Amino acid sequence: MNYEQPKVRKATDKEIEECITDLHMYEHKVIFKDYKERRVEIVKYIRTLIDACKSGKYVTALSNGRGLIAFGENPKGQGHIYALYTYPAFRRQGVGRQLIQAAISKLKSKFKILNLNAVKNNKAAVALYTSVGFKSVKEAKYKNISIVHMERVEK
Ligand SMILES: CC(C)(COP(=O)(O)OP(=O)(O)OC[C@H]1O[C@@H](n2cnc3c(N)ncnc32)[C@H](O)[C@@H]1OP(=O)(O)O)[C@@H](O)C(=O)NCCC(=O)NCCS
Repeated sequence: MNYEQPKVRKATDKEIEECITDLHMYEHKVIFKDYKERRVEIVKYIRTLIDACKSGKYVTALSNGRGLIAFGENPKGQGHIYALYTYPAFRRQGVGRQLIQAAISKLKSKFKILNLNAVKNNKAAVALYTSVGFKSVKEAKYKNISIVHMERVEK
């Protein structure tokens, strides 16, 4: 079901902090059994991504007030989606789709290949990415977790 969404705009620093922290804490808690031991490493990664989003040099963070998407150029010179997050109260209302479509339309003017990684058993995320044209091209195991690498090639 698609509801009418507010306009997509640059994310505020508060939204960046909230969404990236919640997304990664959630993902890591769900995924990694040794979550507690890895906490320092996880927090460091979250900080790096938050700082990259805030500086806006390599990563752009957009929001519609109901969720956030972070995207930019990866070290291989490809367009990359770093994070997508919808606040729990707004899930399944077309928020994530609106955000990823906004990111795709910005990235595709500059990059032919767009890519992202997702945890294979994150069904909501994989279904959303598939519905906007990403295809699984590779799978890897990371600490017993299956990660899918998905790509979308612009014509
Ligand atoms: C994954 C996530 C971003 C989806 O956001 P959302 O705003 O709820 O997604 P949308 O409403 O735009 O859904 C678009 C499509 O994705 C798929 N989808 C979304 N949630 C789904 C779910 N729970 N189960 C199955 N398919 C789902 C559907 O195909 C849906 O289209 P439909 O509603 O017309 O059937 C959201 O669940 C989330 O923030 N999860 C926690 C963080 C996360 O896992 N981020 C992704 C990291 S890779």
